Amino acid sequence: MKDVEYVTIKEGRTTLLVPPHQEGKGPKGIGDEVFFNPAMELNRDISIAFLRAWGVDGKKVLDGMSATGVRGVRIANETDAQEVVMLDLYQEAVDMINKNIEHSGVRADVRKESIEGHMLNNRYKYDYVDIDPFGTPVPYFPSAARFVSRGGIVAVTATDTAVLCGTYKQKCLRRYSAIPKNNWCCHEIGLRILIGYCAREAARYGRGAVPILSYYDGHHFRTYLKINESAAEADASLDELRTYKFSNYSWKEGAGTGPLWGGSLFHEDILNDLKPAGSLDDDLIDTWVSESTLPPFFYDTNVLGSIVGKSPPRLKKMISAMKRSSHRTTRTHFSPTAFKTDADPETVLEIFKDL
Ligand SMILES: C[S@@+](CC[C@H](N)C(=O)[O-])C[C@H]1O[C@@H](n2cnc3c(N)ncnc32)[C@H](O)[C@@H]1O
Repeated sequence: MKDVEYVTIKEGRTTLLVPPHQEGKGPKGIGDEVFFNPAMELNRDISIAFLRAWGVDGKKVLDGMSATGVRGVRIANETDAQEVVMLDLYQEAVDMINKNIEHSGVRADVRKESIEGHMLNNRYKYDYVDIDPFGTPVPYFPSAARFVSRGGIVAVTATDTAVLCGTYKQKCLRRYSAIPKNNWCCHEIGLRILIGYCAREAARYGRGAVPILSYYDGHHFRTYLKINESAAEADASLDELRTYKFSNYSWKEGAGTGPLWGGSLFHEDILNDLKPAGSLDDDLIDTWVSESTLPPFFYDTNVLGSIVGKSPPRLKKMISAMKRSSHRTTRTHFSPTAFKTDADPETVLEIFKDL
């Protein structure tokens, strides 16, 4: 590996060597060099904030798909994790990770191994397993859900957003055994289909999977799942699965879309302890906190506007009007023009019309 081909970057409190990339642009391509995507900095910042909030002192962390090692090295450098192990299938990546371990002076191990095989050979060793694949996590989640420690966390990224959001409906059915819906709510539906899949998969091994922090960000979904041991926990997770029927601006339980996770996307203990880190700021944390106690899905002012045939008011104005009518209402991280509320669809439309 030639040093001259790599550039030095700083993410969080860590300096690292990565392949050349354009600032703010995604990866150059798969296969030609070790993968590094600067656009995933927020994803990595959130994993640091999550581990600090969850409390990782004395815990063992697996960065199961490590590429340059940026996430694992940051975890070793920026959290109290007792042990950090990084994996990648390819020798180029393993060399790069070793270089980054040396460059940043952290204590961590690296292995050229698949996450599936490593989990099978290290049953119940890890308290936190990070799955950050190209595209879908479906091939990797089962071994992590099955063999993470009891009460441990499996953090899952999915970048196959077009599948989960319903552009490729049949593919979603094949991959996630769920029917998506390509409408204004597709990002929340996609995230919930991903979590629903994880809950069903964990249940196969007699384990419950409960999301404690889940979000959508531009081109990926991410969920941090607490894996609880016991058939009762598995059944409790399965009890949270729902199907919904969507109409032109609203929805109700019924056949059509799903099955998907119908429970909360967050756990308040994590949200209460979450502190800003890098590009994760108070604004995003506050939005998660305010939407975390509201039911699934949201209304989009543009969709309501096209139904009623008028230009939509500013979001702030709509939210204030909803609150004046005593309905819990808040913005949502899923869309800058949308709001979540506990009001029924007819009430929402009436208030919208009157604005
Ligand atoms: C999207 S990249 C990971 C990015 C990295 N986590 C980050 O934050 O920059 C996915 C990596 O997983 C590796 N990979 C693919 N299949 C794997 C497997 N079965 N086990 C472990 N690593 C794998 C690829 O070589 C690639 O480097």
